[in-house]
Amino acid sequence: MSNYKINNLQKYNDVYKSSVNDPEKFWEDIAVKNFIWKKKWDSVLEWDFSKPEIKWFKGAKLNITENCIDRHLKVRGDKTAILFEPNNPDEETQYITYNQLHKKVNKFANVLKQEGVKKGDRVCIYLPMIPELAISVLACARIGAIHSVVFAGFSANALATRINDSKCSMIITADGSFRGAKTIDLKGIVDEALEKCSCIKNVLVAKRIMSEINMKNGRDKWLETLLYNASDQCEAEIMDAEDPLFILYTSGSTGMPKGMVHTTAGYMVYTAYTFKNAFQYNENDVYWCTADIGWITGHSYIVYGPLANGATTVMFEGVPSYPNYGRFWNIVEKHKISQFYTAPTAIRALAKQGSHFIENYDLSSINVLGSVGEPINEEAWHWYNDNIGKKKSPIIDTWWQTETGGIMITSIPNVTPTKPTFATLPFIGVQACLMDENNNELEGNQVEGKLCIKFPWPSIARTIWGNHKRYKETYFSAFKNKYFTGDGALRDDVGNYRITGRVDDVIIVSGHNLGTAPIEDAINEHPMVAESAIVGFPHYIKGCALYGYITLKNVSESNHNDNTRKEINELINIRIGPIAKLDKIQFTSGLPKTRSGKIMRRILRKIACNETSKLGDTSTLLNPEVVKEIIDNALM
Ligand code: WT7
Repeated sequence: MSNYKINNLQKYNDVYKSSVNDPEKFWEDIAVKNFIWKKKWDSVLEWDFSKPEIKWFKGAKLNITENCIDRHLKVRGDKTAILFEPNNPDEETQYITYNQLHKKVNKFANVLKQEGVKKGDRVCIYLPMIPELAISVLACARIGAIHSVVFAGFSANALATRINDSKCSMIITADGSFRGAKTIDLKGIVDEALEKCSCIKNVLVAKRIMSEINMKNGRDKWLETLLYNASDQCEAEIMDAEDPLFILYTSGSTGMPKGMVHTTAGYMVYTAYTFKNAFQYNENDVYWCTADIGWITGHSYIVYGPLANGATTVMFEGVPSYPNYGRFWNIVEKHKISQFYTAPTAIRALAKQGSHFIENYDLSSINVLGSVGEPINEEAWHWYNDNIGKKKSPIIDTWWQTETGGIMITSIPNVTPTKPTFATLPFIGVQACLMDENNNELEGNQVEGKLCIKFPWPSIARTIWGNHKRYKETYFSAFKNKYFTGDGALRDDVGNYRITGRVDDVIIVSGHNLGTAPIEDAINEHPMVAESAIVGFPHYIKGCALYGYITLKNVSESNHNDNTRKEINELINIRIGPIAKLDKIQFTSGLPKTRSGKIMRRILRKIACNETSKLGDTSTLLNPEVVKEIIDNALM
C-alpha cells in the first residue's frame, strides 16, 4: 500500500513525480496492491489521442461490485456502507451494512436478469435519492448491464431523449419522490417519456411516496414484489477492464446531450484512489457528499469511490432548506460527519440564512470540507471556512468533469496548501497544461490559457455513446495530442491552478452544466419567437444565471409582456427541466450578428454582465445599431 495514502507534502511531491515519470508503473502498482482481479492485464496502458483510443489494464478481468462490496464482507461486513437520511427528519435513518448491501444488490441483480436484462444492455435509472438508486446502479454493474442514470429533476422530454439515444431496454423508477414539503410524480413523468420510447420493454417501480399510480399491464412491475421473491446470491459477471460500466449524459455546446461512456477498471482504480486521498478517509469516518447520484459527483464520490474503500457513505434524500436551513448541520451533528462535500451554490444559499441555523449544532466532527461544480468565489470560501470548518478544516476545491470521471485538480487536506478560489495542484498522475491562442503550451508560471490534459489518466471517458466522431471533435481536436477541457484557467507563481470558467457555449448554473443550444431550441418552439440567444450572468446564489435575448416574429408592444415570458419558461421547463429556467428575458428587435450570420454572444454576455464599457470590437457586426438598443433596454 506504499503509494496508496499520500500523507505529507514530501510524499505528494515524490509520488507525483513518479506518477508522471512512469505512469504505467505507477498505476500498475496501485492496481495490483489495492484491488481484486479475476485476471491481471496484458498491458497497463495503450493510448493514442489522435484516434482517440485509450485502454487501461487491457485484458484484465474483474467485477467492480466485488471490489466495492464482496471483499469487505470478511473485514467489515457489519460496518455501515450506506447511511440513508430521508427527506423527512422524523422518518428513521437507515443503516445498510456491507453484508446487507451484498444481499440487496444480489437480489436486485437477480431481478434484472429475470426480467431479461443481459450483459451489455442499457438500463435507465430515474430514481430519487433513495437506497434503491445506489443498489440498482450496483446491481447493473453486478451483471454487466450498462447503467444510465438520469437525474430525477429532468423533464419527460429530456428523459426520453436520453433513453432513446442509448436504447435502454428497461427503466427503473419510483411511484414518486419527496422534495422538501412537496412530492413529485416521477412515474407520471416516466409514462409521458415512454410515449416516445419504443425501446423500453420493462418498467420497475419502487414504492416511495405510496401514491396511487397507473401501472401499465405487462410493462410495469412493482420492484418490491420482485425483490421479495429473488435469491440473495448472484455470481458477479466477469467483466473486461474496458467493458462499459455506465453512460452518463452531460450537456454540450450544441444539440444532443453527450452520453459519456466510462469503462470498468480504470474508473474503479482512479475514483477509489482519489477518494482515499482527496478526502483523507479513515476507517471510522462517516463521509457525506450532498450531490445527487444523477450527476457524476454522485457516481464517483457517493457510490463507487467510497464503497471501493469500504467507507460509510451518506445518501441524503432531501434539500438543504427542509424543514429549515439547519438541516445539513443537523445531519452533520447527528452522524458525526468527518468529510463534507458540497457545491458553491449550496454554500451561498446557506450563507444567506444567518448564523443561528449553524450555532445550534455541533460541527466539530468535520475534518475536511469539499467544494465542486463551479468556481467557489472568495466570499463563499471564507464563509465556509469560518462558519463550517471553524478555520480548522482544510477546504478542497475539487475541479473535474463528467468526462474526467474523477477529481483532477485539488489540494490534499493537511498535505498540500489551500488557496481561496484556486483548485490548486493537479492530482497524482494528472498532467495539466495551459494553451495559448496559437496552440502553444504556455511554459512557466503566472500565465492564463485554455486548460488541457497532456496524458491519459485511468478514468477518462472513452467515447460518446454512438458518436465517437463527436468525442474526437469535442475533446481532441482543439489542440493536437491533448484533451481539451472546455475551461479557461490561470496558473499562479507556484503552479496553483485557478479555473476561470467555460470558454465554450456551456453555462454552469448552480453547478449544473447547461448547453445553450437545447435551451434556445426550446425557446424557439414558442410560436411567437423568431430567434433567441442565451448567455450567463453572475448570480449571487446560482453562481451563474441565464439571460435570454429574444426576438419575436410580430413586433408589437403588446407581445412584450410577462405572459410571454412565463410561456417561454414553461416551454423550457417541459423540454429540459426547471434548472434551465431563464432569470431574465429581454425582448429585442434583433440580435447582434457577424456578416456570416453568427450571433455574437460575446457582446450579449458583456451586456448581461453590465460590462458595456468592455464590448470590444463591434465593427465586424452586420447590425451594430441593435447593440445600442439592447444596452438601452438591458435588464439590470
Ligand atoms: C464543469 C464540469 C465535476 C462534477 C460536477 C460538474 C465546472 C467543476 C469546478 C471547480 C471551477 C468547476 C467546470 C467543468 N467545474 N468543478 N472546482 N472549480 N469550475 O461536472 O457537469 O461535467 O461540469 O464544471 O467548468 O468543466 P460537469
